[in-house]
Amino acid sequence: MGQLSLLNGNQVKTPMALLKIARMGHPVLRQRAAPVDDPTEESVRRLAVHMVETMDDAQGIGLAAPQVHVGRRLIVFEVPSDRLEEGEPPGPAGVTILVNPEFEPVGDAIALGIEGCLSIPDIRGVVPRHQTIIYRGVTPAGDRVEREATGLHARVVQHEIDHLDGILFPDRMTDLTTLCFESEIRHLLADAEESADD
Ligand code: NI
Repeated sequence: MGQLSLLNGNQVKTPMALLKIARMGHPVLRQRAAPVDDPTEESVRRLAVHMVETMDDAQGIGLAAPQVHVGRRLIVFEVPSDRLEEGEPPGPAGVTILVNPEFEPVGDAIALGIEGCLSIPDIRGVVPRHQTIIYRGVTPAGDRVEREATGLHARVVQHEIDHLDGILFPDRMTDLTTLCFESEIRHLLADAEESADD
């Protein structure tokens, strides 16, 4: 008899699979990820589930497969309502899993916002992104997704798709003086408030 027999059957849970997150400097973060031939393949669904668990554990709002050392075009993200700017429309409910995602900008508006990345721990910076986009992809269930996104929702999607092309958020920054440690971010926020008052 193994130890498991001591547990009530329905209490035995599959252990969470936390994946190791690649950090800036690892070459996998700089490579272009390959398209997934069959989004409905079981291995894709399993990887996505583990990525969501890893993202939640690390308290991130998005994760791309290259960040867990897998060079495939797969992203997971969620748009928490408590992180939205005032008046910003809510994102989709729950976690979105997208295979082979793509986006295009809607209009010319560029928004500045503070970003971080699980591959660049404790660092933040102000990054310009398209304010509004349309993005497309396929879920592991084989459903096609096409959504318009604005604000934080659009920002997360652009950040994650960048990962699939080997691009990290500092590459997108136009003002490197805003690159800072999270523990110093109050200074950045104070500056942003001041300039908003101008
Ligand atoms: Ni990132």
